[in-house]
Amino acid sequence: MTDEPLVLGIETSCDETGIGIVRGTTLLADAVASSVEAHSRFGGVVPEVASRAHLEAMVPTVHRALETAGVTLSDIDAVAVTSGPGLAGALLVGVAAAKAYALALDVPLYGVNHLAAHVAVDVLEHGPLPEPCLAMLVSGGHSSLLQVDDVTHAIKPLGQTIDDAAGEAFDKVARLLGLGFPGGPVVDRLSRDGDRDAIAFPRGKTKGEYDVSFSGLKTAVARWVEAYEGELPVADVCASFQEAVVDVLTAKAVRACRDRGLGHLLIGGGVAANSRLRALAQERCDAAGIRLRVPRPGLCTDNGAMVAALGSRLVAAGIAPSPFDLPADSSMPVTDVVAVAG
Ligand code: KG4
Ligand code: ZN
Repeated sequence: MTDEPLVLGIETSCDETGIGIVRGTTLLADAVASSVEAHSRFGGVVPEVASRAHLEAMVPTVHRALETAGVTLSDIDAVAVTSGPGLAGALLVGVAAAKAYALALDVPLYGVNHLAAHVAVDVLEHGPLPEPCLAMLVSGGHSSLLQVDDVTHAIKPLGQTIDDAAGEAFDKVARLLGLGFPGGPVVDRLSRDGDRDAIAFPRGKTKGEYDVSFSGLKTAVARWVEAYEGELPVADVCASFQEAVVDVLTAKAVRACRDRGLGHLLIGGGVAANSRLRALAQERCDAAGIRLRVPRPGLCTDNGAMVAALGSRLVAAGIAPSPFDLPADSSMPVTDVVAVAG
């Protein structure tokens, strides 16, 4: 076991400074410093504020992770960092730090794709990935359906949101209901006391079979709230909105699995913490004979462990590291698992 490489993972694509340490497929540390509080009064992540927070949190969070793992920097065999996609300035802080650590330690450096890392993280909880599988990644920044033939080099995008990401829809609806930021957890909680069939909100239509759309739904919720007279049934609005989101997501994921003969569905991203999404996905997967895998909530949201987990898999697969001039690429395509060009 101890001869497996020790990988340091650095994640700074949004508002979480995540540092993970993984040996093989064993998670040794997952330290996260979040700047979410600093963004809450704006109702969304402010890029400049996030970049600054990463800069301040980086070194202390690395030290916290090393301490938890019981290792020192000189034990690290490889460094992996999110190269993209994400907020350009935020990514730059992580990429610069990763280059500095890799250079100082004289170890290989992997610039990796954030979406692929969301998929790879599940090995830390459930063991080897079932490949091929369908991955549905739903967060504040992304909503993607991916066919994962091999997470180290063969990921095919099948569909994505054509407007708002799923988490963004939760955040915007929470904002218009005056529930604060981030919206997902509070909408999820309030929905438990609401009736999900109370209001028939629209299921967004898209041209692409596996694409999703949430901006029409958000507008429909806003119109409904505006037109309502009397004390707003907030729990019913939350539950009915949430149902519209998770109904569309789970239906599309299950259809994609069936169409493409994929027997496993993996869900990741912050919205994967949603209790109704988990329940409905389980119900529909059971009915269709599909095995469902969802990492625990702490591994679904952005973290450094997912980057270390992917880095570890890349090292094990003998994939060449990135050059030292690897970029922070805010729109890195998911077909690139490892950053190559500088
Ligand atoms: O993955 P994540 O931490 O960061 C990125 O956006 O990349 O996801 C955060 C998003 C937010 O939009 C938040 O509202 C949403 O995930 N979220 C949830 C829940 N917990 C977090 N959405 C629905 N239900 C939840 N329980
Ligand atoms: Zn993410």
